[in-house]
Amino acid sequence: MSGAFAVSKYDPFARLLHWLIVLLLTAQYVVAWTMPGIHRGTQPVGLIVVHLDLGAFILGIMIVRLLWRFVRTGPDAVEGTPFTRGVASLTHGLLYLLLIVQPAMGWANASSRGWQVTLFGVNLPSLLPKGAAIGHTLGDAHRLLAWVMLALIGLHVLAALYHHFVLRDRVLRRMA
Ligand code: HEM
Ligand code: HEM
Repeated sequence: MSGAFAVSKYDPFARLLHWLIVLLLTAQYVVAWTMPGIHRGTQPVGLIVVHLDLGAFILGIMIVRLLWRFVRTGPDAVEGTPFTRGVASLTHGLLYLLLIVQPAMGWANASSRGWQVTLFGVNLPSLLPKGAAIGHTLGDAHRLLAWVMLALIGLHVLAALYHHFVLRDRVLRRMA
């Protein structure tokens, strides 16, 4: 892996986006589980607005990140068996996917409630008409997927720490 042209680290922009998402997502989970329960007729005020804005921002950053991932493909694969490498790329792929799908479902649910979603004060289009029945299902899926994503993040972080403290290899430093 240390050939003359081997790339051994994620580029600075990819690292910035990775840690920015860690920060934003941590805040988003705290806000989501602190904000008042959302029911029929709830008005989007206070922490609920923070949740919508932060979520829209996360979606925006993830789109940039995904595009960047296609431009700059990341460093060489780490050592490991085909199985562990497969689990790692599957986990990363699912995290990318969930970080797009999860905010999109929240947005669709917000639209079905007739709520305006904004990004830096700019109105975003409605994904569903007000009252759309599927909005309810998407809201349920949004709450459920939050846990699925958290489990994947847990697996991902444990793997990073295992690499660093048990295997003592350079995997964590590639993203640090
Ligand atoms: C990755 C980003 C996001 C995460 C991790 C997340 C997480 C969560 C969680 C955990 C809940 C459940 C709160 C509870 O049980 O009381 C929730 C509810 C909700 N979120 Fe998000 N959210 C994200 C993005 C968004 C976005 C972008 C929007 C809209 C623009 C949004 C709109 C909503 C709405 C409307 C609910 C209430 C759903 C319902 O109960 O029917 N979320 N979110
Ligand atoms: C909100 C939580 C997190 C999310 C959503 C997340 C997501 C991701 C994704 C999608 C990748 C793949 C990057 C790519 O190939 O473009 C990645 C890589 C990586 N993450 Fe995270 N991450 C999170 C938290 C963490 C934390 C807390 C650590 C460290 C303890 C960490 C360490 C790493 C490392 C070392 C890599 C590079 C793995 C490799 O070289 O193949 N991540 N992360």
